[in-house]
Amino acid sequence: MTDPQIVLSERVQQALAHAFGPEHADADPLIRPSQFADFQANVAMSLAKRLRRAPREVAEAIKTELSDFPGTVEVSGPGFLNITLDDSWIAAEAQQMLADPRLGVGTITPSQTVVIDYSAPNAAKEMHVGHLRTTIVGDALARLHEHLGNTVVRQNHLGDWGTPFGMLIEHLLDIGEEAAVGQLEAGMGTEFYQAARVKFDGDEAFKLRARVRVTTLQSGDPETLRLWHVFMDATVRYFNKIYGLLGVTLTDADIAGESMYNSMLQKTCDDLETSGTAVLSEGALCVFPPGFTGSDDKPLPLIIRKSDGGYGYATTDMAAIRYRVHDLKVDRILYVVGSEQALHFRMVFAAARMASWLPDSVSAEHVQIGMMLGKDGRRFKTRSGESTKLMDLLQEAIDRAMAAIADRGYDEATTREIAHAVGMGAVKYADLSVSHDSEYVLDFDRMLAFTGNTAPYLQYAQARIRSIFRRGEVDPASATGPIRLGEPAERALALQLLGLGAVLEHATAASEPHRLCAYIYATATAFTDFFEQCPVLKEGVDPDTRASRLALCALTLRVLETGLDLLGVPVPERM
Ligand code: ARG
Repeated sequence: MTDPQIVLSERVQQALAHAFGPEHADADPLIRPSQFADFQANVAMSLAKRLRRAPREVAEAIKTELSDFPGTVEVSGPGFLNITLDDSWIAAEAQQMLADPRLGVGTITPSQTVVIDYSAPNAAKEMHVGHLRTTIVGDALARLHEHLGNTVVRQNHLGDWGTPFGMLIEHLLDIGEEAAVGQLEAGMGTEFYQAARVKFDGDEAFKLRARVRVTTLQSGDPETLRLWHVFMDATVRYFNKIYGLLGVTLTDADIAGESMYNSMLQKTCDDLETSGTAVLSEGALCVFPPGFTGSDDKPLPLIIRKSDGGYGYATTDMAAIRYRVHDLKVDRILYVVGSEQALHFRMVFAAARMASWLPDSVSAEHVQIGMMLGKDGRRFKTRSGESTKLMDLLQEAIDRAMAAIADRGYDEATTREIAHAVGMGAVKYADLSVSHDSEYVLDFDRMLAFTGNTAPYLQYAQARIRSIFRRGEVDPASATGPIRLGEPAERALALQLLGLGAVLEHATAASEPHRLCAYIYATATAFTDFFEQCPVLKEGVDPDTRASRLALCALTLRVLETGLDLLGVPVPERM
């Protein structure tokens, strides 16, 4: 592990144990970046209180323990430890990182099996912008976990079942399979649904047919199931177009929709009832997890079976959680779903714990996704009030990217390729760069800007480094240094680069891809400073300096590429 913050933490902990006894070995050394040094450790203040000693005295004792540390340690103020690393240490660590195919990034041990439940659009409706974010954030988390050595089971919990399918199948029969498939593949799911709905509400005969169809579907009638498959396959082909455009790693093998749990629902209810976890209340089978009350102070039910005998969203989620724990043997389940479902998931997790279906050893986490807003600060909609088609939105991003790079003199095919990378990168990065639970304003101008914390800026930064290598006629892989640090900008860049491993670890543990975004952005900024102040290819730069700076360029390139790749943001060769 090259990350200085981690190395420092370990060293300070050792110092604490040595100076004050082993019981302090696990104390958080409170290492923070500092204005006056590379880092500061604030632990002396909190520890002093516990030890009933003067903070400066405690700080001095720690400093003494750190006497062989590769850097300078100073006590300042009430008892801060200001720590400055030696240039030679930073250079050696950067050199090691450069030589390591994993860039000094460790793996999680023991490795975990993680289910990531994400994307999950509903088949009866068009995939809308809300699902864009669950898809993008979930996919970044999947990539991060895999990079750190975890086994990821992607589960696309499609809304592919339920009573609306009665009217959807009848409408499909009315307009003919071919026409239906054409519409659904083209992403007209909403229109399809609305047309069915109008008939359902206005045409008694249709309504009756639809109701009967629900029953035949649930009874497993082969012809009805075939029609359901026709509907679903066409719908999934449309979802796949979107995933393909975005470069999302979900495949058909990851589909684990609501329908998958059909055969388990009755047993789910029976088992919950037998164990006493669920009870009948006004004809419905309900779990009342402790601590959940409604506005009237009455206990809030999680309805497992409605009074008419029907199963619902919660039934499926209870079956799914048991399947994931019992069959998939997960250690961790991440539900990347809109924040408006927070209560649902808290109740499902609580109910599953009550039933002992979710042991303490397994963590279930709702990665809450904030709502997408329009520029007016209201829920994102188009002028007509309909929610925007995802495909149109993505196409608009690509078109705008195309216009932005039109004058760069690339041929048609290259321009298209770059526009695709920039457009999709911009949409994805905009979603990822703010914390996932914050509301988020969709603003094309901002996300496509070539300055600031945006995909185009970062894509450009890495493309610019590649162009340095092209101009110097050097293969980045052969730029192996040795790295020597002289200028402050070189040192700052190297120190920044060493932080990759820690940020990946944090972003993965906390499900916070925006931390990785902030890190990549800071890295690109540090590179810009370096590049302005430290000529690389210029005549007169001595060969050793040139070799060292090229190595720093190569390391930066790999860090940017790796980071963007883990976010799922494409990295074009040129821009
Ligand atoms: N289809 C649901 C929706 O669009 C999301 C499903 C999330 N996953 C789950 N296990 N409930 O709101």
